[in-house]
Amino acid sequence: MVYQKLKSKESSIAIIGLGYVGLPLALELARHFKVVGFDIKQDRVDKMRQHIDPSHEIESKNFQGADIYFTSNLEDLKQCTFFIVAVPTPVDEHKVPDLKPLLSASEIIGKVLKKGDYVVYESTVYPGCTEEDCAPILEKNSGLVFGKDFKLGYSPERINPGDKSKTIRDILKIVSGSDEEALENISLVYGEIIHAGIYKASSIKVAEAAKVIENTQRDLNISFMNELAIIFDRMGIDTREVIEAAGTKWNFLKYYPGLVGGHCIGVDPYYLVHKAMELGYDPQVILSGRRINDGMPAFVAKKLIQILISKKKNPGDCKVLVMGITFKENVADIRNSKVADLYKELKAYSVKVDVIDPHADTLETWEEYQIQLLDKPTDQYDAVIVAVAHDEYKNKTEDYYTQFMGKDPILIDLKAVLSPKPKNIHYWRL
Ligand SMILES: NC(=O)c1ccc[n+]([C@@H]2O[C@H](COP(=O)([O-])OP(=O)(O)OC[C@H]3O[C@@H](n4cnc5c(N)ncnc54)[C@H](O)[C@@H]3O)[C@@H](O)[C@H]2O)c1
Repeated sequence: MVYQKLKSKESSIAIIGLGYVGLPLALELARHFKVVGFDIKQDRVDKMRQHIDPSHEIESKNFQGADIYFTSNLEDLKQCTFFIVAVPTPVDEHKVPDLKPLLSASEIIGKVLKKGDYVVYESTVYPGCTEEDCAPILEKNSGLVFGKDFKLGYSPERINPGDKSKTIRDILKIVSGSDEEALENISLVYGEIIHAGIYKASSIKVAEAAKVIENTQRDLNISFMNELAIIFDRMGIDTREVIEAAGTKWNFLKYYPGLVGGHCIGVDPYYLVHKAMELGYDPQVILSGRRINDGMPAFVAKKLIQILISKKKNPGDCKVLVMGITFKENVADIRNSKVADLYKELKAYSVKVDVIDPHADTLETWEEYQIQLLDKPTDQYDAVIVAVAHDEYKNKTEDYYTQFMGKDPILIDLKAVLSPKPKNIHYWRL
């Protein structure tokens, strides 16, 4: 049995793609199985060999004692019988799923796949992707037949980046397999590392769909709050206060407005949209939520410009400090940052903008967005925008922010980190 051979270390598990999802998973599995960690980026492999996580999430001590070999060499995959794929699934500039990393990972596996092997996908995809898009690539490159010679599975990752309280072990794992035997073996492998339990989905498509709707639901819930923030701003009502009041009802779900960036919540709904459109259905609710969320940087920039003009300040003469550029609080990940969009919007109004972020990497931010991060505020700013609720920005008093503010300043607090609301400065929040 596949699981027993892995357990006795007669054969190995390969993790393909060692990023935010792949590396923690590989290290957990390497406490129970023999693991080969494969990534196409040699510089990342070199770092992991030195017990450094290139994504800055895992401490060096977590590498110790793990039975894992990091490599970018295809030959090293030949000893493996159980492949887990955790490569990125982004969208292209037209918001269409870009399956290149997933298909190229499948091609790599296809070249070393043997009879009796398993391939389990963890990357977020649309329902049908594993069996309709990946399986044919595996077949083509291996000369084997799916179902007869090798089996497939899908098990989505559900980690919440930056949330150290819930590691993979603590999150219930959905697993699925191409047949009963596959489901059993895949459940046993994950069962070794997951303490929170295993949920056996009835099919690969159900498991794929479950993951994509988790993130789509969150995107839509936030988009509703963002739309409310736009409406209540016109009414002069504080959205947070409304949410707190409404939240006293037992069945009101509390979500908060904000910028929705990153590589999951703002991206995954497009996978579902793509598949729906392929099947001739034009999703309206999902896309309208996406439009609202993507429009928030422009809304915030316009709001700030309106306030500046109302104070007889010429935006072209104003300097703004943006605090935080990562896609969410307490992480280093800057991918698909909507703060970068806000920066661009402000620059389009000829505002001078400085950006600081204690978590983001300066070089990466420059390469990705051509934004030069500063170490600390360097001026007396006309406005400060707290864009990300990093711990460093929380629990500060009004005085903390006013120390780098000029005359008659404005504080835009997108994540409502300041409580109580400051009294002596112009304060606005979503
Ligand atoms: N990051 C999260 O919090 C999170 C949570 C749940 C699900 N997901 C999903 O998991 C998947 C992986 O996301 P991530 O954030 O870990 O990505 P990532 O960008 O952090 O890591 C991906 C890794 O894959 C490597 N890679 C790319 N193409 C490859 C290939 N063809 N062969 C081998 N390695 C390759 C990259 O070099 C990188 O190290 C995505 O589908 C994502 O949507 C991510």
